[in-house]
Order: sequence, then structure tokens, then C-alpha cells
Amino acid sequence: MTVENVQKKTVLVFGATGQQGGAVASALLSDGWGVRAFVRDTNSIKSRLLADAGADLVCGDLSDPDSVRVAMCGVFGVFSIQPSSGQGDVYGVTDEQEIRYGKMVADIAVEQKVKHLVYTSVGAAGKGPTGLGHFDSKTEIENHIRGLDICFTIIRPAAFMELLLLPGMGLDQNKFTFFIRPEQSFQVIAAQDIGKIVGVIFNRPTRFSERTIEIAGDEITGNALQQALTEAAGKDILYQRFDNALLTENDFLGRLAAVIDDGRCAGNADLTALRNEFGHLLSLKEWLDGPGREAFRAALSTSSSQVKLR
Ligand SMILES: NC(=O)c1ccc[n+]([C@@H]2O[C@H](COP(=O)([O-])OP(=O)(O)OC[C@H]3O[C@@H](n4cnc5c(N)ncnc54)[C@H](OP(=O)(O)O)[C@@H]3O)[C@@H](O)[C@H]2O)c1
Repeated sequence: MTVENVQKKTVLVFGATGQQGGAVASALLSDGWGVRAFVRDTNSIKSRLLADAGADLVCGDLSDPDSVRVAMCGVFGVFSIQPSSGQGDVYGVTDEQEIRYGKMVADIAVEQKVKHLVYTSVGAAGKGPTGLGHFDSKTEIENHIRGLDICFTIIRPAAFMELLLLPGMGLDQNKFTFFIRPEQSFQVIAAQDIGKIVGVIFNRPTRFSERTIEIAGDEITGNALQQALTEAAGKDILYQRFDNALLTENDFLGRLAAVIDDGRCAGNADLTALRNEFGHLLSLKEWLDGPGREAFRAALSTSSSQVKLR
């Protein structure tokens, strides 16, 4: 694969202390890019680790457009990500805030004459209203970006493999409870592969300009998940779909199950084409045996009894 003649400069990475942004920062740093990490607290442990790895920290908050403007000054590229209401109370962000932040980052990128904006959306975006605010928000941000005068690439990641590690899914009780049916196909991606893909995209702005790419590393079923988890745990893990009663009584979970059932959130990425374009991407088994191994083993012993699933 040839690389366009991009003079490697600096990319401003939002969410660099998080899963996607962290993976992007890491991939760019190891590829020789300068990384400016937009962080809310320069003294947090994750911020310090970023600085130790070679990133420049710039302090700001998405609620403060001036801090975004200052951070973006003189950068070649921007990796744009926003927290969402789908993450529950973690960041307390509303769908309206997510939309405002996503549009604002893109508008300032135009104003600052950024050469390449990469926005991370979600697989369910652009497939009609889903009734889930944190999916529909991303459709709106995507549409806004497409109307701007800027070189952009939109990626739509499938569900992260890291979702398996969330407490509350029952791993500590030798089971795993999720949305998919035993025979239903569902795509997943390791966070580190999002970084790898974004690294390739920043190296080839012309090739990836104005493209929207669904990304995933593997396609599983409930049955395949049970087998992979059992092998990785070294003991039987029973896969089961969330109880119908729970999906009926919990509006959020019910809507998520509906968009997985109707295919819009099950993933439509072309795994062969992705591997041709971006190189090897981890299968779930490889992730469980490799980068996810330690955290998976910890999840096996993390009590889920106190966790409320939205
Ligand atoms: N989970 C999935 O399967 C999946 C799949 C596709 C898309 N998504 C989408 O991915 C996004 C979350 O990505 P992620 O998992 O990488 O996030 P994450 O790990 O939770 O990290 C969120 C990042 O956003 C930063 N942040 C939060 N509030 C901020 C603010 N007001 N100003 C500036 N930075 C702020 C956090 O920084 P601090 O260190 O300061 O807290 C952190 O770096 C959501 O929009 C979600 O809908 C998720």
C-alpha cells in the first residue's frame, strides 16, 4: 500500500483519555505524527500517560468553544469524538449537547483551515431515525459535516469488543447476557483497531476524502460468542439474550434490541474490503487471547449484582 505524500504534522485528538481517542493517539504517535491531546484535566493519570507517550496536552472542554479554537490552532488534522447519552450518567451529556459539540468542532475545523477532519460516528447512523438519541445525534452531525467545505472522513464503528468487559452482563456468574439472538449476526471491533484505521486514514486524506466507512473486525452470533467466551474463560459461559420482560419494561434496552433485530445496529461493514484497505483487524478470539485478555479475566470476577443496566 502506498502512502500519499502527507507531511506528518500534528493531529488534535479529542477524547484522547478514552477508548477511541486513546487508540487513535497511540496509533498516530507510533506512526510519527505529532499528537495534541484535548483533555479536561492535564493532571489526571490518563493525561499523564498520554504525555509520557509523547502527546502534547492541551486543556479544554467541549462546552467551551474558545478552548477548542485555541487547541485547533495550526494542526493538520482533527479526530472528532463526543461523549453521548448512550454512556448513561458517565458524562451527563444530553443528545442536544452531543450534536452541538460535534457540529462546533467541525465548524471550528473549517474556520481554522484544518486539512483533514475525521469524525467517529456509529454503525447505526444514516439508516433512518432509530428512536435512540445517541444514534440519531450522530446522523445529524454527519449530515452537518457533509455540508462543510473541508476534507473529511466519517467512520462508523460497530459495537466495541470492550463492551464484553462491562460489569452487569453476568460474567461473574458464568453467563453473558446481551442483545443478540443465538443465530443472529452482529459485528464488533476492538478499540485498538479504530486507532489503526484512523491512522491509515490520516496518512491518505485524498483517498479517504468524503468517504463514510462502516468499520468492524469480526462478525459473531450469540452461539459464537458463547463458544469464544467459554474458550477464553477456560470454563463454561452460557450466552443468553436479555429477557423479553426486561426489554419490554426498559425502554432504552428495548429500543436497542429493536435496532439490532431490524439490522440497523447489527453492522453492515465489509470485513474483507476493510482488511484489504487497512490490514489485519482483530477477531473477537484474537482480542480475547491478546489485548483484551487481562481485562476479560478481571471482568470474570467483577461482581455485577450491584449494577443497574440503565
Ligand atoms: N461503545 C460502543 O460500542 C460504541 C460504538 C460506536 C460508537 N460509540 C460512541 O463512542 C462515543 C464514546 O467513545 P469512547 O468509548 O471512546 O469514549 P470514552 O472512553 O468514554 O471517552 C470519552 C472521552 O471524552 C472525554 N470527554 C468527556 N466529556 C468531555 C467534555 N465535556 N469535553 C472534552 N472532553 C470530554 C473524556 O475525557 P475525560 O478524561 O476528561 O473524562 C474521554 O476522553 C460515544 O459517542 C458513543 O455513542 C460507542
